[in-house]
Amino acid sequence: MAACAGAMAWPLLLPEPAGAATCAPAEPASCSLRSVADLAKLRIGSTITSSRLGDPAYAGLLSEQFSSLTPENDLKWYSVQPAPGEWHFEAADADLAFAEAHGMALKGHNLIWDQDAYTPAWVRALGPSGLRSAVDEEIRTVVGRYRGRIPRWDVVNEPLANLGTARSDSVFERELGKGWMVRAFVAAHEADPAAELWLNEYGTDWVPGKTAALVRLVRGLREQGAPIYGVGLELHRPTDRGPRSDDVVAALSRFARLGLRTAITELDVPIAPGDPAGPRRQAKAYGRVVQACLEQPRCREVTVWGLDDGHSWLDHLGLFPTPTRPLLFDADLQPKPAFAVVRACIARAALLRAGAPAAPLSCASLPRP
Ligand code: XIL
Repeated sequence: MAACAGAMAWPLLLPEPAGAATCAPAEPASCSLRSVADLAKLRIGSTITSSRLGDPAYAGLLSEQFSSLTPENDLKWYSVQPAPGEWHFEAADADLAFAEAHGMALKGHNLIWDQDAYTPAWVRALGPSGLRSAVDEEIRTVVGRYRGRIPRWDVVNEPLANLGTARSDSVFERELGKGWMVRAFVAAHEADPAAELWLNEYGTDWVPGKTAALVRLVRGLREQGAPIYGVGLELHRPTDRGPRSDDVVAALSRFARLGLRTAITELDVPIAPGDPAGPRRQAKAYGRVVQACLEQPRCREVTVWGLDDGHSWLDHLGLFPTPTRPLLFDADLQPKPAFAVVRACIARAALLRAGAPAAPLSCASLPRP
């Protein structure tokens, strides 16, 4: 795609990660997640929250285990411009400084979240012409500020209705007309021509017809000139069995066939409180998703939506019995079975990639201790 010609190609030039020198993927326990992921040419990500960076245990684990960071909230419109013209970049600046200090790639999440519940009230009240200018200004200001430093942006987040296949019933849809998403991508590209521009969506793995609807949307946007580089799949499937791998594989390959990069951008797998089999089932679910990404050459990243079970957004949704314990580390920052499965899975992919004899990639089982 001509508009993306300057986009950064994998691998990014990152400093050698800590632990890489001692990581032998035949013995995954010798490796951090990020060191095996580097060998497998996969980005492994977590969210980052600036308010926790003062905690050395949090900061240490994040930089030790992950190569990619997505600010959980610090770059969203409601965070950076909560009132008209009132810009707050301190939190996002801190996230980025941390990423840069530790050789991690940060993803800008997100510029326009196409759901009214997450759009500031003042933005929703602007009316069509004010809204158009505000969208342009938000994109220009935020992408422009981090030009050359944030290499990837989620330009449009959740353009489809959460539980359906229609376009979101949002103020952007109602007031800006159909061309607004193309205009948003073009504005982001103009603000940083080298940045990868992504579209991110929820529910493609379980809402009937949603992958097909997203394929239609993305194809149409590209035909109209939107410089879309990749599509991110969120995968917050609301069951303790996690996403079905067939659905994930199918969605990844449909976007790959469009010539796009893909990523798993927001993975978590809640388990029922007190269920003794929960952590093992969860580990297998994680393994299946990571395997699906590793087997699809255009899938570049798996990002987990949170670092540890003490801090998951799922515990605050009111949809699940809590604690949901959906992540790779427990509330004491100790690795869970899911961590071991993910690391072993990526280690096997690293071995296969290097041409070393290795068991076939089969990541839905627990590694031997
Ligand atoms: C969530 C955060 O985790 C919460 O802390 C916040 O209150 C709401 O947003 N889809 C997305 C993410 O794209 O940005 C959302 O993150 C989770 C769903």
